[in-house]
Amino acid sequence: MKQIIDLRSDTVTQPTQEMREAIYNAVVGDDILGEDPTVKQLESLAAEMLGKEDGLFVSSGTMANQIAVMTFTNRGEEVIVGDTSHIYNLEVGGLAALSQVQTRPISVPNGIYDIEFMEELIQEEGIQAPKTGLICIENTNNLNAGLVVPLHNINEVCNLAEGNGIPVYMDGARIFNAAVALDIDVKEIVKNVDAVMFALTKGLAAPFGAVLLGNKKFIKKARWIKQRIGGGYRQAGFVAASGIIALKTMIPRISIDHDNAKLLGNGLSNIKGLIVDITRIHTNIISGSIEMLPITIEDFLSKLLNKGIKAKRISKTSFRMVTHWGIDESHINYVIESVKDIINNL
Ligand SMILES: Cc1ncc(COP(=O)(O)O)c(C=O)c1O
Repeated sequence: MKQIIDLRSDTVTQPTQEMREAIYNAVVGDDILGEDPTVKQLESLAAEMLGKEDGLFVSSGTMANQIAVMTFTNRGEEVIVGDTSHIYNLEVGGLAALSQVQTRPISVPNGIYDIEFMEELIQEEGIQAPKTGLICIENTNNLNAGLVVPLHNINEVCNLAEGNGIPVYMDGARIFNAAVALDIDVKEIVKNVDAVMFALTKGLAAPFGAVLLGNKKFIKKARWIKQRIGGGYRQAGFVAASGIIALKTMIPRISIDHDNAKLLGNGLSNIKGLIVDITRIHTNIISGSIEMLPITIEDFLSKLLNKGIKAKRISKTSFRMVTHWGIDESHINYVIESVKDIINNL
């Protein structure tokens, strides 16, 4: 079978051999009873690495986000979210369905939150107005080219929130990509947010899970909500074991994904008619536009597929490519040559 170069997402990664062995050898117990040592080890390792008091192993980034909002908010409150955020666009309306909150979107054009505008959005409880109960920020921005939120901007959001007595939650599905791009300890990025989650399944390549982090009181309530929605696990140490290996081994190689993304972005940006803004390649996500070319996005993606390359449609004229653990420089060169060939033959 022809090898497929899958650039749709970093979620398509396969676990490493070390992860597979750790899964096989994991020491497990009943996690609902608090007796799975491997889950506990993952939760405390993650808490230590991000500088938070406690952690909660959950099945997905989506579950972490939804539990976080359920934990922080009350029914009928308002939550400020980025207009391109995952929590607002890609979680099946979970905030309305599960937390019964109303969302107040804010645009985050360059991965930067407009603090003055955000201040305008914050509402105190009134006889008519819903109270702002939570601010959710995303770092890196998945649907916005993987842009990194600068540290000063995160801290401005946190200061504003603190001044108004509102908690801040960070969807840090790709927080280690942000830390690598900013070249700082991940602890610095999340120091002032009240809670954060990161995914084990993306750049870290584990097969399962995410970890939600915050103070002990927050995690205690979050654990209880996780149980309520059927997220209590029994011998989850098997999957937690792969998460421990992911945290211990995969972070140093994230810079390779970023280098490959830049290489790919540079190559694509030199192809006449294709629009790729290389200044927006902060991490492992590349956005491209075919709006200047005489081809539809569907035909473009299907021609790529004929050459064994998968990319993801973002809009009628744009696509994305994501670099990850399964992609090396030879794949990047092949993709650039293939795109050139497709466009030269239009
Ligand atoms: C920023 C962000 N948040 C949350 C999620 C959801 O993670 P999961 O697919 O594990 O539910 C994703 C997934 O791509 C994401 O990119």
